[in-house]
Amino acid sequence: MLDTALDQWFTANRSRAFDDLFAFLRIPSVSARSEHNGDVANAAAWLHAQFERIGFSVRTHPTAGHPIVLAEWRKAGPDAPTILIYGHYDVQPPEPHALWTSPAFEPTIRDGKLFARGSVDDKGQVFIHLHALEAHLAVRGALPANVLVLLEGEEEVGSEHLEAFVAAHAERLACDGVIISDSAMFAPGIPSILSSLRGLAYFQIDVQGPAQDLHSGSYGGAVVNPAMALARILATFHDEQGRVAIPGFYDDVRGWPTDVLAGMRNLPFDEAHFLKEVGASALGGEPDHTVLERLWTRPTCEVNGLLSGYTGEGAKTVLPATAMAKVSCRLVPDQDPERIRTLMQAHVDAVAPAGVRVTVRALHGGRPWRATLGGPLFDAAREALGAAFGREPVITGEGGSIPVVGDFARILGAPVLLMGFGLPGENAHAPDEWISVENLDRGVRATALLYDLVRR
Ligand code: BES
Ligand code: ZN
Repeated sequence: MLDTALDQWFTANRSRAFDDLFAFLRIPSVSARSEHNGDVANAAAWLHAQFERIGFSVRTHPTAGHPIVLAEWRKAGPDAPTILIYGHYDVQPPEPHALWTSPAFEPTIRDGKLFARGSVDDKGQVFIHLHALEAHLAVRGALPANVLVLLEGEEEVGSEHLEAFVAAHAERLACDGVIISDSAMFAPGIPSILSSLRGLAYFQIDVQGPAQDLHSGSYGGAVVNPAMALARILATFHDEQGRVAIPGFYDDVRGWPTDVLAGMRNLPFDEAHFLKEVGASALGGEPDHTVLERLWTRPTCEVNGLLSGYTGEGAKTVLPATAMAKVSCRLVPDQDPERIRTLMQAHVDAVAPAGVRVTVRALHGGRPWRATLGGPLFDAAREALGAAFGREPVITGEGGSIPVVGDFARILGAPVLLMGFGLPGENAHAPDEWISVENLDRGVRATALLYDLVRR
């Protein structure tokens, strides 16, 4: 049970907390766009000031990209555990603006949902930890554990500089466990602990045909069309059954533990409801795997973007000079982004038709991760989530990626706990992103209780 004094503090400070969170959400910290570099820096500065205000010692570390904020409170003594909390303060680009019901950077509450870019991914969930830590320090003047908070501004663009930072500061970041809230619950009212994340290997494929755009009548038929060449290349990425057909792609896929698979089968998953959520007419993918298995345990190869030729109003008879595709593979243990890069390059080289020049450029990547379930941190999270939500958490998987998680496990050798407060349909990365207000209220209480329970 959560300490009554903490519970009362949350109630008393609720409206001020929303003001603070709104101020954080108003900063358009879009890491992908250089015109927002100043805003990303402002979001880092906002966090720096907040953690200082509540009693942490804070340093903002510049990187070649966006800054890393490290806040530390180490006064619990050598016998108390040390926990590392990780989150990100950068957000995805908000476009297309026209599809937002209220502007992306003007937080608005409607029907129990707080709408804003970053509300759930991940500023709102970072705020949950900030607020829970503040509650402990305000009510008791101390935290039950030594706490390090590591906040980055490059998660949405691949966490390029974080692995080196973690490696360089491994001693300083040494801890008994890592806690991350940057994921979703399985369903409303069902708290969840993640058992896995997929990794990622992201590519840009450029096809160059003739030296410049050509009249499609004067030249079409004799000159190879780059858009068609790219379409042919992309079409070789899968077989008829929806399996990835890049040679060697599945070589390193390790089987999934049968108890974890059985757990997934027992989750109350409703395919019709899922179909309705995505708004498509039917589902696809590997037929010999359940939908949750396809999303959580199987690797993929997806086109994320396509560009070629004339796409404006009306018709233009042109044979385009270039075509481009953004392609990303989601990876599962033990696939390695570097090796997938090699396989992708070799495959594209093998299938690229004559008459065009095809280049494959690797953009970013991250390793997949699988949790070791059990242990003190995991047990504490189970209990804290159970108390705050009034029911036992379920163990879920995840199809998305958080690149640094594998690095934490490998470099720090610490268990990683993923306990998120988002919900299905939360529109992360899309217009009208939201976080449930109820989950914010329960989330701060679960988190505050978790800090108490790790002390035990
Ligand atoms: N919060 C997400 C990861 C996530 C996605 C967790 C879906 C749970 C459900 C994170 O911010 C994210 O979007 N990660 C990127 C990583 C990429 C840019 C390297 C992703 O998965 O696309
Ligand atoms: Zn994200």
